Amino acid sequence: GKVIAIVPAAGSGSRMGSTVKKQYLQLVDKPVIMHTLAALEQCPEIDGIVIVVGPGEVALCQEMIDQGNALSKIMAVVPGGDHRQTSVYNGLCALPQDTELVLIHDGARPLIRPEEIAEVIRVTREIGAAALAVPLKDTIKVVDERGIVMATPRRETLWAVQTPQVFRFSLIMQAHRRALDTGMLATDDCALIEALGSPVQLVAGSYENLKITTPEDLVLAEAFIKRRKN
Ligand code: C5P
Repeated sequence: GKVIAIVPAAGSGSRMGSTVKKQYLQLVDKPVIMHTLAALEQCPEIDGIVIVVGPGEVALCQEMIDQGNALSKIMAVVPGGDHRQTSVYNGLCALPQDTELVLIHDGARPLIRPEEIAEVIRVTREIGAAALAVPLKDTIKVVDERGIVMATPRRETLWAVQTPQVFRFSLIMQAHRRALDTGMLATDDCALIEALGSPVQLVAGSYENLKITTPEDLVLAEAFIKRRKN
């Protein structure tokens, strides 16, 4: 069976405060999304890539990919939805029948390394669902609407989950369909698997694999890329 990547890149980028959406912002030598696609392209375990972009950006994105060259694994560019979960589901619906594993990776995480991708795929073959994650550095507070602290979960138990998140095709399809039925809306795909009661294995990743969300993330990402080039 094939390993196909879905790249959700249909977010509005409102937290970036820029007119250009974050996935198209220039990062050193190319747009953020092109770094992400290059890493997936370079990972030998991945057979194909489906990109999910804003409904009005499909043609533009296709054009950028055609010009970007050396991206031979891209199978489709499909329109996304109002929420990340909807965008991923649209991607799932575009996958070929012979897909065995689905790898979901945020377009806004350009610093992912091909070896990290391969490791999450390896673990998923054993357990069915796995994701890259890092231990939290900050202490986390649960607050009410007024900012009054309600609880402080023990930091030793907390991990920040990243992408890639990799799943058996049948399992992630079932999880998304169940979420549609129950009205569950989650900010990552693992949460939908957890709701089924199925195990999800976290794989220790790198703090470099940040999600470009606010302007300072771009500064950090640039520094990491320049350091890699040396
Ligand atoms: O919004 P968030 O930071 O969780 O976005 C993570 C990824 O999901 C980004 O790459 C973003 O472009 C994508 N996304 C999407 N469709 C949405 C919202 C976010 O594809 N409606």
